[in-house]
Amino acid sequence: MTDAQGNLRRTLGTPPFVAVPLAGLLFFKVFCKLCPMKPQNPGGGSSQLLVLLICSLTGSAASGQAISPGPAGAAPPYEFHRDHDPDGIGKFYLGREIAQVMGHQAADWLERPEREAEEKPGLLLEALKLKVGYVVADIGAGSGYYTRRLAKLVGQNGLVYAVDIQPEMLELLTNKMAELNIRNVRAVLGTITDPRLPASSVDLILMVDVYHEFDHPYEMAQALCAALKPGGRMVLVEFRGEDPKVPIKPLHKMSQAQVRKELGVAPLEWVETSEVMPRQHIIFFRKN
Ligand SMILES: C[S@@+](CC[C@H](N)C(=O)[O-])C[C@H]1O[C@@H](n2cnc3c(N)ncnc32)[C@H](O)[C@@H]1O
Repeated sequence: MTDAQGNLRRTLGTPPFVAVPLAGLLFFKVFCKLCPMKPQNPGGGSSQLLVLLICSLTGSAASGQAISPGPAGAAPPYEFHRDHDPDGIGKFYLGREIAQVMGHQAADWLERPEREAEEKPGLLLEALKLKVGYVVADIGAGSGYYTRRLAKLVGQNGLVYAVDIQPEMLELLTNKMAELNIRNVRAVLGTITDPRLPASSVDLILMVDVYHEFDHPYEMAQALCAALKPGGRMVLVEFRGEDPKVPIKPLHKMSQAQVRKELGVAPLEWVETSEVMPRQHIIFFRKN
């Protein structure tokens, strides 16, 4: 796929859950056969080729060799490795491989009825302590599963920016908002480095199962901080990487320590981590 700036981006057409042995494998095979969203990677092959081509032209494709994403000394370096997890993009940030983006072909997975019991979204929404009139940004909003819940909580005088890099996701989201007559949501087509939000305008940024997919996590964190009001909060919800029982592919989970390490280079301070959700960390930061 390409994002709004035409950047090539590898996407995963299948959801990021891990099939359990045997029964799970069988289910996965049947799922792949029957499901219209094939496990394809639109643009994936060419994206990988592009990375490898750039690396070999610059002579820096050797495993572990660093490529700086910004001005010298301004950011931790990204690394590219030829041998990597098939669910990743071969690009590493502070020791973690970045996961492939979940493609819009898997949007049904985001709306699965079991999600309510597996995730208990009400517990997250309660933990956010939102106020009527807040401006909230749902980054990587997908089909809008959380956007519509946030919109209800901030009320008619509040606003929710729903940002995603896949126009197809935003189309699903806006259709759903129209169907439910929700009017305080603004859909924004972001890029892999820029959520395209007005500066110092947002009270709370929410990212549910998104950050681990950012192609440019350093640049995104900086841009998101710029969009936060002074004292505004940034909240990451990630499947617990420390817990092997959480049935999600490893690259689609994150440990709390890794999240804090990565966000530690942004102008943010860690506030607290809540473990009220059954499978996910809720990690709260505040803009310095
Ligand atoms: C696993 S889905 C989660 C969707 C939604 N947050 C939910 O929980 O239902 C991840 C979403 O993040 C989006 N995404 C990935 N990188 C992004 C970026 N840099 N900016 C905005 N959205 C991004 C993907 O397009 C995808 O829709």
